[in-house]
Amino acid sequence: MASATVKRIGILTGGGDCAGLNTVISSIVRAGVPMGYEFVGILKGWEGILDPPMLKPLDVRAVRGISHIGGTVLRTTNHGRFAAKIGEGGASRIPTDVLNSVARNMKANDIDALIVIGGDGTLSGAHQLMELTGMKVVGVPKTIDNDLEGTDRSFGFSSAVEIVREELNRIHTTAASHDRVMFVETMGRHAGWIALYGGLAGGANAILLPEFPFDPANLTEFIRDRVKQGKLSSVIVVAEGAHIGGKLSTKKAKKDGEAQLGGAAERLMAAVEACAKPGEFEMRTVVLGHTQRGGGPNAEDHILARAYGVAAIDAVHAGEFGCMVSYRHGKMTAVSIAQAVGKLNLVTAEDPVYSAAKKIGLYMGDA
Ligand code: F6P
Repeated sequence: MASATVKRIGILTGGGDCAGLNTVISSIVRAGVPMGYEFVGILKGWEGILDPPMLKPLDVRAVRGISHIGGTVLRTTNHGRFAAKIGEGGASRIPTDVLNSVARNMKANDIDALIVIGGDGTLSGAHQLMELTGMKVVGVPKTIDNDLEGTDRSFGFSSAVEIVREELNRIHTTAASHDRVMFVETMGRHAGWIALYGGLAGGANAILLPEFPFDPANLTEFIRDRVKQGKLSSVIVVAEGAHIGGKLSTKKAKKDGEAQLGGAAERLMAAVEACAKPGEFEMRTVVLGHTQRGGGPNAEDHILARAYGVAAIDAVHAGEFGCMVSYRHGKMTAVSIAQAVGKLNLVTAEDPVYSAAKKIGLYMGDA
C-alpha cells in the first residue's frame, strides 16, 4: 500500500519547540502505519541526520499518549550546523558538505523521505537540501510566531496567544491594585502576531509591533490621557521585535543561528520614563518568554496539528515532495516550500484584527 518509491520516512522537529509538535508526530505515525509506511524519528532537528546520526524507531506504541504533551519527544535545536536563517527573512547558505552528509545518512539508514516539522529556518534548510541533493521532503508549518508565508496558521500560535491572554488577565489585577503601568514583552521575532492577538484578547491598552513605528512621547501622552480619564493603570504589550528608538532589542548574537532578541520591555519603559515627569508613573516590566512555548496544545492547535500530520503523510503518499502542507481559507492544501520561506508573513495595516484594535481605541503605534 505504501508508495512505490517511499517505504521508510524520517520525521524531524527543528527550531524552537511549541505546543502541538507531539500531536503532529503522533498523527503522522497513526495515519501512516496502516498505509504501509515505517517511521524513524530524527533527534535534535537536523543535527540528528548529520554525523553521527541520532535516530529512534517510531511505531504506534512509541507515539501512544504523547499528543497532548508539550515540547517534542524527538527534541530539537534552533542552532547548529544546519542553521539557515539570519535576521528578517534572510537565509544563509548551508555548506555543501553538510547538505550532502544528510543525503548520505538518509541513504545509509534507508530513509526514503523526510517529514520536516519546522518554521522558517528549518524549512529553509529543507529547501536547500532538496535543491542540492534532490532528497524527498514534505514540510509542516510550526511556529508560535505565525510568520510563515503560504499558510494562514502555523500550529503553536494559538496556544501561545492563549498563554499571553491568560497572563495579561493576571497582570491587569496587579496593575490595577497598584495604579501601575505594566510593560509586557511577548515573543514573535520580527512578526507582531502574538502581541497583536494575545494583547487584544488579554485587554491590553496599547500594543506595539515590529511592523509599525511609534514615538515613545506619543505613548507617554496616551498613558497620561488615560490617567486624566481616571484609568490609573495601563497594560502595554510590546513585541520583542518592536523597534524602540528605531532599534531592535538584541541580547546577544549566536555564532551559529539568529541573534537572540530581548530587552524590549525594559527599553520601552526607560523611553517612557524619559518622556514622563519625574515620578509621574509607577512602572514595571514582565517578560513572558518561553512560557509562550511551553505546555500542551490548546484545542485549536491540537486539532490543527492532527490535521497537519495527516496532510503530511497524505502528501508523501501522493508523491507531492517539495511542498509544505498549509491551512488556507478553511481548507487543507499545500504550497511549495520555496514559496513558504521566501519572505516573512507580517502584520499589515489592512489586517482586520489590527484595524479592529485601532478602532476600539488601543494605541497601536503612529501609523
Ligand atoms: O521562533 C520562536 C521563538 O520563540 C521566537 O519567538 C523567539 O525570538 C525565539 O524563538 C527564542 O529562541 P530561543 O529558544 O533560542 O530563546
